[in-house]
Amino acid sequence: MTGAGSAHNLGSPWPVGMGSLLFREATEADIEVLQSFRNDPDVNRFMVRTHVEPDDLRREWLAVPDSATDYSCVVERDGQVVAMGFLDIVDGSGQPGRPAGTDSLIGYIVRPGAAGQGVGSATARALLQAAFDRLGLRRVTAAANLDNVASVRVLEQAGMRRERHAVKALWHRELGWVDEVEYAMLDEEWAARTSWPDGNAT
Ligand SMILES: CC(C)(COP(=O)(O)OP(=O)(O)OC[C@H]1O[C@@H](n2cnc3c(N)ncnc32)[C@H](O)[C@@H]1OP(=O)(O)O)[C@@H](O)C(=O)NCCC(=O)NCCS
Repeated sequence: MTGAGSAHNLGSPWPVGMGSLLFREATEADIEVLQSFRNDPDVNRFMVRTHVEPDDLRREWLAVPDSATDYSCVVERDGQVVAMGFLDIVDGSGQPGRPAGTDSLIGYIVRPGAAGQGVGSATARALLQAAFDRLGLRRVTAAANLDNVASVRVLEQAGMRRERHAVKALWHRELGWVDEVEYAMLDEEWAARTSWPDGNAT
């Protein structure tokens, strides 16, 4: 989450319904539950930012609707928040004249009690759909610790292409130097898809 900016100048991509899941912007009523699982040790095992101060978490989530770069969402199922999805506009490098506001970074955290039920995979798909179909972005990337098997599966099943494998690039407090993988998808790859790699229809 970036928290910066001056309004959703692309319009909000949320809310979106997908099966039993509702992807929507967070409200004050969600903050307590987001705080309760964001700093859970199981959740943080592979996160680079291992702890978020509760006040920072509140400020960052409540700033999303007014941000020009942060389009993050919460994921609701049966009236309960089961995950958070991150979608930040983060431009890459390039020479002067590079178009601005075209690239984004996605991420996700599933509430421990809801893990292993397809919520992470659905969230990655919803974030890609939001980035390409609703925000009209050009390129989406996501990074994961290679040891984070579930996250790597989520990205591969979302049809993202592994384009970087950085060996012993990331410091992990228990594992030491670990590998990091980065995945990407371009708008043209998104448009060319007819189904998800696991056979699910688009
Ligand atoms: C990574 C994470 C988002 C996965 O979400 P999830 O809802 O549990 O994932 P899904 O149920 O959609 O499963 C996705 C795939 O991962 C596999 N998987 C899920 N949990 C797993 C685990 N603990 N170990 C190995 N594989 C696992 C599933 O079997 C599935 O693969 P399959 O379809 O081939 O069977 C979730 O575990 C999480 O929030 N982790 C903590 C935060 C985090 O690491 N975020 C990502 C930072 S890059």
